[in-house]
Amino acid sequence: MSASSITPRDRLIVALDLPSVSEARAMVEALGDTVSFYKIGLELTYGGGLSLARELAAQGKKIFLDLKLHDIPNTVTRATAQVAELGVNLLTIHAYPQTMKAAQAALKGSPLRLLAVTVMTSYDDTDLANAGYAFGVKDLVRRRAEQARQAGIDGLILSAEEVQELRAQLGPQMLLVTPGIRPAGSDIGDQKRVMTPAQAIKAGADHLVIGRPVTQAADPRAAASGIVKEIEGAVA
Ligand code: C5P
Repeated sequence: MSASSITPRDRLIVALDLPSVSEARAMVEALGDTVSFYKIGLELTYGGGLSLARELAAQGKKIFLDLKLHDIPNTVTRATAQVAELGVNLLTIHAYPQTMKAAQAALKGSPLRLLAVTVMTSYDDTDLANAGYAFGVKDLVRRRAEQARQAGIDGLILSAEEVQELRAQLGPQMLLVTPGIRPAGSDIGDQKRVMTPAQAIKAGADHLVIGRPVTQAADPRAAASGIVKEIEGAVA
């Protein structure tokens, strides 16, 4: 699927950062047809989220499993093959060349697409130096983005402020998926640098991962619908 053929509704990925499967299921029911794509992360995965992923995929919802895989190649290949069996659409892996190659090897015609995590946004240059890296954040993000492209990875998950530069570096083919999005006027919570949905789409993002502005809203369905409309205006 080329980026331009993604519908505005499919561009919004709602992060189901909720403590239990029953709360997540209730949120999906409340959002109804307004939302077609959900992200399930580590918290919910370890609380029964994999069976919810399978259940929602069977109902025709698109699912992004944010599991950030990184292990020896044999384990990554086998774990990715298991995820592909769930019928989900996106999976994150860390952008180490060995890990990316190993995950890619498991796809074999599956519709599962891989997103590489370049550098966690909680890391700064000092954290990288302390972890033994010779590169600062900007250089390591660029280097790993290029390695992901060369490995044939489908896309990257990255902060909104990196989108414009990486879109220019990587060209139109790679899927760029970004969190850190806040509709104008909403609470930014613990996010530090945020963009509105329209700004992120105009910067070149394909999908926006948005959690609390939808899930904590007084009317989640209206909040999601407003975001989809804003996206629609930005892609037009
Ligand atoms: O609630 P909020 O919209 O801030 O949620 C953003 C989602 O994106 C959360 O699931 C969060 O873990 C994830 N995320 C992020 N920043 C990153 C990577 C992932 O906010 N750098």
